[in-house]
Amino acid sequence: MARAIIIYESKYGNTRLVAETIAEGIRQASGVEAEVRELKEVNPEGLTEFDAIVIGSPNHMGNATRSIRTFIDKLGKIKLRGKLAAVFDTCIDRDLEKAVKKMEKQVGEKAPSLSLAAPGLSVRVEGMKGPIAEGELPRCQDFGIKIGNRLKV
Ligand SMILES: Cc1cc2nc3c(=O)[nH]c(=O)nc-3n(C[C@H](O)[C@H](O)[C@H](O)COP(=O)(O)O)c2cc1C
Repeated sequence: MARAIIIYESKYGNTRLVAETIAEGIRQASGVEAEVRELKEVNPEGLTEFDAIVIGSPNHMGNATRSIRTFIDKLGKIKLRGKLAAVFDTCIDRDLEKAVKKMEKQVGEKAPSLSLAAPGLSVRVEGMKGPIAEGELPRCQDFGIKIGNRLKV
């Protein structure tokens, strides 16, 4: 059975909810398992067990969090050839896609053996603490479905 891991950081819970919703979408593809893990619980060496690695971060000052950036930097040291990757962020309107584009670029530079399963997803929150803006969660589910379909056996 194909396996995906969704790794996230979240200060106020919005990025965690996005991660869980993406996982639901992935699970809709038959034969695909999805686990959601907070970054601090993840051992990078263990990632070799997964077929897809999905990474999400809140936008902090126009970028992914420092810990997420450090984590992406480390991916280059792990054997990930043939695996899929995808990234997502949560942000306020004006910075839509800003962090996710940087994450995509960083994954491409640091872990070029990963292939992107789908273009990065940027999810709007209504303020610093959320909530997630209306209509955004169905997009998260669709993003998961897209990744799940790429993994389907
Ligand atoms: C220290 C900090 C800096 C932030 N900087 C930005 C920013 O530059 N642009 C933006 O759109 N949102 C910014 N935000 C808002 C976050 O994107 C928002 O709090 C986050 O999406 C909520 O996700 P979370 O509940 O998973 O923490 C910032 C939030 C914090 C805490």
